[in-house]
Amino acid sequence: MTFKTLDDLTDIAGKRVLVRVDLNVPVKDGVVTDATRIERVAPTIRELSEKGAKVILLAHFGRPKGEPVADMSLKTIAPAVEDVLDQRVHFGADCIGDKAKNAIAEMSDGDVLLLENTRFHKGEEKNEAEFVKALAANGDIYVNDAFSAAHRAHASTEGLAHHLPAFAGRTMQAELEALEKGLGQPKRPVVAIVGGAKVSTKIDLLQNLVTKVDALVIGGGMANTFIAAKGVNVGKSLCEHDLADTAKAIIAAADKAGCAIVLPEDGVIGRGVQAGADKDVGGINPTPA
Ligand code: 3PG
Repeated sequence: MTFKTLDDLTDIAGKRVLVRVDLNVPVKDGVVTDATRIERVAPTIRELSEKGAKVILLAHFGRPKGEPVADMSLKTIAPAVEDVLDQRVHFGADCIGDKAKNAIAEMSDGDVLLLENTRFHKGEEKNEAEFVKALAANGDIYVNDAFSAAHRAHASTEGLAHHLPAFAGRTMQAELEALEKGLGQPKRPVVAIVGGAKVSTKIDLLQNLVTKVDALVIGGGMANTFIAAKGVNVGKSLCEHDLADTAKAIIAAADKAGCAIVLPEDGVIGRGVQAGADKDVGGINPTPA
């Protein structure tokens, strides 16, 4: 796997560097409750800023579905980014157009500017060419440091890489190197652990993984889709029932490749998710739904 990193970026003083970061962090009452994701991207931001680049952060926050939603404004996150960086973070009220352009025009070399939620525009999730062009107009270089959003082919995560010289940030680099270690020429056995709510967003990934690893451990909500596909009643649990055939196809592909699929064997069955709800703990009922 070959990709360019910040080590390949020299002479960037004064250059406008668009840095895609994942700032989709938990917030309660307007305050960030877990800054881990900000801490992960801080080294990339600092490194670029120290080299004198104009560091322009692009990110999404929540799922506003293509229009501005006040409580999904990245303005809420800017103070937490400042705290982590220990550096002033300017804010631009839009990620494209005049508001972005004017905010960038005011930047000095080494400044950090956070632009508003890319998902306030429909073109982001659709990876629309016009929107990608509008984003690209704000930068000379593109750095992607949002590994945790890289499974989405959106304008700011994928489209931009076709328009500007593209580089992996330090977090992306670390993740890609770890993947290479695990999936390139690994020392066997290799076990992959995947989770999250949905199978639908990870079908290609799962199909590919089962051909490369010795065991695939599936947790989170997506485990229910596999358990249900095996005929177990998962009640009202999060589950993509319409993907039963896909889950079965992944299980079949795993069998063929000699990859063991490991699913939860027991669980907590409750009448609700609230604290104190009646619950039962035990093996997952093998009785078909
Ligand atoms: C995440 O929080 O998992 C990433 O930021 C991706 O967010 P998304 O699932 O809304 O695309």
